[in-house]
Amino acid sequence: MKYLIDTANIGMIEKCNDLLPIAGVTSNPSIIKKEGKIDFFNHFKKIRQIIGSAKTLHMQILAQDSEGIIKEAHTILENVDKNVFIKVPATPQGLKAIRLLKQENIGVTATAVYTKTQGLMAMEAGADYIAPYFNRMENLDIDAADTIADFAEMIAVYGYETQILAASFKNIAQVNTAFKCGAQTATVAPDILLAAFAVPSIQKAVDDFDADWQETFGDISICDLK
Ligand code: G3P
Repeated sequence: MKYLIDTANIGMIEKCNDLLPIAGVTSNPSIIKKEGKIDFFNHFKKIRQIIGSAKTLHMQILAQDSEGIIKEAHTILENVDKNVFIKVPATPQGLKAIRLLKQENIGVTATAVYTKTQGLMAMEAGADYIAPYFNRMENLDIDAADTIADFAEMIAVYGYETQILAASFKNIAQVNTAFKCGAQTATVAPDILLAAFAVPSIQKAVDDFDADWQETFGDISICDLK
């Protein structure tokens, strides 16, 4: 079970990478829009520098035809680094591109997955990750939990190496459901992840422990006791 963060915000990536056990960073053009007209390749090189080479970085192409997708993928790999996972929407053209990119041994994340067929075909095309859009599916009355459970079952039954990278969450309960249904990984906006720690009782518990210690030992810390 791995958490990735769905953001291109350098400050947030630094913060989450420092504090939380995250496994990587994902982005798409709508996420990049929030950062403005960034120095694209240098921005992502900086993200790679922050997260290091052991974590995964997923970047999306814009082209809609297989040839254009492959060209953009190579441009990203040449200008950021060879280990970037290329996010390709699971359209028919995208599926063709995924197959061809995998023949070159390039890491691929099939994205914009709303239906079972898209995900299953992306697995069959060799995608390393498939990204079902949990909240967007629920908005359309598509059963995201059932879809993810089916993907997990097919991966287990047929031995695909594809991992489910659940995405598009509006709250942490959806994230937990995705994991429960068998998603190995999930990419979550930092504010949703951090909100899970904003339950007032958590800080109150910490403050109560502190107050009890101080009542007992005053200003003496654990380190002072050695
Ligand atoms: O990673 C995909 C995700 O960014 C889509 O999320 O919130 O735009 O539905 P959202």
